[in-house]
Amino acid sequence: MAFKLILTACVFALARAQSVPSLVVPETGVSAFPFDLSQVSLSNSRWEDNQNRTLNYLKFVDVERLLYNFRATHKLSTKGAKANGGWDAPNFPFRSHAQGHYLTGWAHCYAVLRDPTCRDRATYFVAELAKCQANNAAAGFGAGYLSGFPESEFAALEAGKLSNGNVPYYALHKTMAGLLDVWRIMGDNKAKEVLLALAGWVDGRTAKLSSSDMQRMLGTEFGGMNDVLANVYQLTGDKRWLVLAQRFDHTAVFDPLASNQDRLNGLHANTQVPKWIGAAREYKATGNKRYLDIARNAWSMTVNAHTYAIGGNSQAEHFRPPNAISQYLKTDTAEQCNTYNMLKLTRDLWAVDPDRTEYFDFYERALLNHLLGAQNPADNHGHITYFTPLNPGGRRGVGPAWGGGTWSTDYDSFWCCQGTALETNTKLMDSIYWHKDSTLYVNLFISSVLNWTQRNVTIAQSTTYPVSGTTSLRVTGNGEFTMRIRIPAWTTGASISVNGQKVSIEVKPGSYATLQRAWKSGDTVTIQLPMTLKTVAANDDPSVAAVAYGPVILSGNYGSTSLSSTPTLALDSIRRSGNGGLAFTATAAGKSVNLGPFYEAHGFNYNVYWKVSGRLPAVI
Ligand SMILES: *[C@@H]1O[C@H](CO)[C@@H](O)[C@H](O)[C@H]1NC(C)=O
Ligand SMILES: *[C@@H]1O[C@H](CO)[C@@H](O)[C@H](O)[C@H]1NC(C)=O
Ligand SMILES: *[C@@H]1O[C@H](CO)[C@@H](O)[C@H](O)[C@H]1NC(C)=O
Repeated sequence: MAFKLILTACVFALARAQSVPSLVVPETGVSAFPFDLSQVSLSNSRWEDNQNRTLNYLKFVDVERLLYNFRATHKLSTKGAKANGGWDAPNFPFRSHAQGHYLTGWAHCYAVLRDPTCRDRATYFVAELAKCQANNAAAGFGAGYLSGFPESEFAALEAGKLSNGNVPYYALHKTMAGLLDVWRIMGDNKAKEVLLALAGWVDGRTAKLSSSDMQRMLGTEFGGMNDVLANVYQLTGDKRWLVLAQRFDHTAVFDPLASNQDRLNGLHANTQVPKWIGAAREYKATGNKRYLDIARNAWSMTVNAHTYAIGGNSQAEHFRPPNAISQYLKTDTAEQCNTYNMLKLTRDLWAVDPDRTEYFDFYERALLNHLLGAQNPADNHGHITYFTPLNPGGRRGVGPAWGGGTWSTDYDSFWCCQGTALETNTKLMDSIYWHKDSTLYVNLFISSVLNWTQRNVTIAQSTTYPVSGTTSLRVTGNGEFTMRIRIPAWTTGASISVNGQKVSIEVKPGSYATLQRAWKSGDTVTIQLPMTLKTVAANDDPSVAAVAYGPVILSGNYGSTSLSSTPTLALDSIRRSGNGGLAFTATAAGKSVNLGPFYEAHGFNYNVYWKVSGRLPAVI
């Protein structure tokens, strides 16, 4: 045991020493910083359960199968591995789009747990990708090319002649993002080499295009090419990558956003959000405020006019007219990837404006009500749904192929949302705490331990939130610093005490409560955020609403009964049942129905949006 511990410590020291890169080009405009993933660990909770299930899959999945398309395309032996199905099948247009997410998932796993299996999988995979790249001359590809489909797809794209639904830069972006993470999170220099060679290939390919040909090509989904390349610029200091990143600025989408016009109706939603994340990154890389305007306007528009009560957006993958919510409560609402990307955008924008709690009010709403429950808790490999149905009597885990709520599988899905969920569920701790100098931000209420090495302090948060509205933070170590605690807009009567004594600081909903002290080991902060029932009306129809208790969207349990229309819920009939849990009863369409947290609505038909009548009870 002792030997093993020492060995782990050495490997850790070695990997760190090996050069986790730091930014050569500092960020403009950022005034709060995330902790390294290795500094925050989840404690026992539903959150950790989700992480464990996803990690089981990441450590189980056959790496040779994941390499199949890369090897076959680059004319190397596939080593007897079986080909995958779903979106990674050898004839699927944008096969090999998923693997970048596995790289990121393994890197997260290594960062959080120092898990050697995850580390070895990531480094092996990168080394095998390097071999594919090294065989380009023999395969007839340009130097640096790396993909699971041939380079000729890019020629077809440039000529506007893609006939098979391929989105080659979308797939390429994901490979690049995975390599970037293995480089920046694990310090793997091979990942850097492969990434820069691939970026060089992209530069060579796109430098030849006129700007109008380039813009026309950007009409096809291309992920966050501007984002990953701006990151490469900041990590290398080489302007070439900034110029290349900006070549992927999509004028037709950026121009209206810069002038705050909502032209999202009809656009494929998840094609857009990664570009906005790229805009936020380009702002941080250049200081050009127009990029920030684009990202902020896109965020406000999407959150305020295109988002369901659970924090997800889009129907059949597309944005609908502004505020059109009630007409689009279907089986294919709330694509999971979009929310994964909106959360990235949210944290990027909050870091620029860390006084604004609405960013983390949204973050909490979407993480809790959409993403947490999109994973199947009954599945040891943490499989997920692509959409989260919001139709009356919807159900997770059923539906036509990927077009409904059905669960992903080990080898026959590889949808975009399966990939992004590997990331989501391995970085659940990445936004709980933030810091700036001697200020600690507490943004989310999730049981966890922060090792604030910069100040020799650990903070242990323990809570059953959102089942209870109370959370406590125990400080170990001494020193003077300020805690800024998010007081969500939905609460009233919040209070904060230290070591059992209520403190008289401002605790206004929708603001940060500021607690400055010379902390001593053992000091414990207790935060109480009283929860009440609220309705969340559809923007386009005040008579249609979801019901929330504090941050939690409640849904009705309809067992195996199907609903042919939206039931009418008598708001004044809602009662809390039992002993302080999140179980409620109510009367809807004249019948009794049990209400519970939507994130736990698994294995039965549910209802989220109701026709509402009457008023909520004053006291619950
Ligand atoms: C998750 O896995 C870790 C390591 O195997 C284990 O210690 C922990 O108890 C698990 N957590 C839950 C909630 O099952
Ligand atoms: C915090 O991290 C530092 C540096 O990695 C380590 O030496 C220390 O033991 C950690 N503290 C706790 C309580 O985990
Ligand atoms: C943390 O502890 C180290 C070693 O004891 C000390 O040098 C350093 O000043 C401390 N840092 C802070 C912020 O207290």
